[in-house]
Amino acid sequence: MEQGQGAGPILVVGNAVLDIILTVDHYPAEDEEMRASARRLAVGGNAANTAQVLAGLGHRVSLLATLATDAEAQALAEGLRTAGVDCRWLVRCRRGQTPLSYILLNAAHGTRTIVHHRDLDELTLADFQALPLETYAWIHFEGRNVDRVGDMLRHLRAIGYSGRVSLEIEKPRPGLDALMPLADLLLLSRPYAEARGHRSAASLLDAMGARLPDAAMTCTWGDAGAWARDAQGRILHAAAQVPPRVVDTVGAGDVFNAGMIHALLAGRELPTALQAASRLAGQKVGVTGLKGLADPLNPPAAA
Ligand code: FRU
Repeated sequence: MEQGQGAGPILVVGNAVLDIILTVDHYPAEDEEMRASARRLAVGGNAANTAQVLAGLGHRVSLLATLATDAEAQALAEGLRTAGVDCRWLVRCRRGQTPLSYILLNAAHGTRTIVHHRDLDELTLADFQALPLETYAWIHFEGRNVDRVGDMLRHLRAIGYSGRVSLEIEKPRPGLDALMPLADLLLLSRPYAEARGHRSAASLLDAMGARLPDAAMTCTWGDAGAWARDAQGRILHAAAQVPPRVVDTVGAGDVFNAGMIHALLAGRELPTALQAASRLAGQKVGVTGLKGLADPLNPPAAA
């Protein structure tokens, strides 16, 4: 906790989504009718997930996201506040509905299948420029709404922003690759690597390192663990710390990203941060939801 509280505040830019999560004992066949063994509503969205975890680790964290005016949006804002996330910059949009994800959590394999619906205005550069950006020690971006996020990243360069900037790249999107040189830390994942024709995280990181030699980058690869490349071109690996029972994989990647930001802000080097983020993501998949994750830099002593 101390580490989080001591570090400067964090701004997370991206999505807040209402997740409707049903636990099922097998993946349904088309046109099947089946029962879920559990249902849960949760605040989701990559940025909101990362923000909630950082707040849980004791950081001062603000979320910049658009919010609809419907009843679900009220519930989202309430949930974020309860999780300790500063909501003062949430942008109310008159047009559109709260983004929803219908998520089937397959208890047999721990997989989560997500059907996402969105019809809500996106953040603009003006929304971002209105914030006291220099007061944040770290700004993390979800890698979507690519054109506007590009404007925001270029704005940070133009004002000589002195904090650190991370960019999550979950899957390929038109224009996203061009934004990579504008971030200090790239948080990549397996679907992106595979879509670019790589069969391993190390292969992606090697190829990207040739293009962006100075950027630190990570790539998660499910239960094979996570890899990183440092600015010297070394490839590092942390094994996945999978608990005996995987109960909920929703947002595990977002939790990993929170772990990286948490550890690097606390002054840890990349290899330690990679281990800490993997430990945090491993911890997460063993519990339901995002609450109560222990600080991976101060793991509880073994009993
Ligand atoms: C998990 C998640 C969910 C959300 C979905 C789409 O990573 O962020 O919480 O509904 O992905 O953004």
